[in-house]
Amino acid sequence: MQRRLSLASLTLAAFGAFGALGALGCLPAVEAPMDSGTPPVDAGGGDTAPVVTYTKDVQPILGVKCAPCHTGEGLGGHNIGNTYADALMPVSSLDAMGCWDSTLMVPMTVGACALISIMNGWMPMSMGCFNTPRPDPCVTLDQQAIIAAWVAEGMPQ
Ligand code: HEC
Repeated sequence: MQRRLSLASLTLAAFGAFGALGALGCLPAVEAPMDSGTPPVDAGGGDTAPVVTYTKDVQPILGVKCAPCHTGEGLGGHNIGNTYADALMPVSSLDAMGCWDSTLMVPMTVGACALISIMNGWMPMSMGCFNTPRPDPCVTLDQQAIIAAWVAEGMPQ
């Protein structure tokens, strides 16, 4: 809890310095973060494609792969591994590459940023997930495709 509080105050401080940082160009540029080639999920070819939901499809993945950091520890200010509402919050970490609009500096939601962070290998953190093939603790490409479909659907609960 202490860690979460201090992250939150860091974040507030960062927002205070936001205009200055933006003017100096110190914030990460976003280069078409959705262009990393994740194919849409093949829902089976029927016309009754099931909706990908957080509860049914996404939480069972994130609850494992993002534990314990985002299933109670609240690192980065969220517990997307077990708390649906946290997926809808705006991103707070200024170093979340690709999760901020490059021109307006508008943050994505944590849910959309989760997909970006998985795709670019940042999350799960410190697991070497930018390597090919990805090590075991990482989200697999099949799991990533499920999360991509969920984000594309507007992250239904
Ligand atoms: C070993 C711990 C750890 C694991 C496992 C982990 N994360 Fe993180 N995550 C962090 C930390 C620490 C931060 C804060 C980083 C920062 O602010 O620089 C963070 C930040 C984030 C953020 C940015 C949140 C914000 O509002 O700025 C997202 C999105 C995220 N993680 C998604 C995930 C996803 C999705 C998974 C699982 C697939 C995952 N993480 C697994 C430690 C972890």
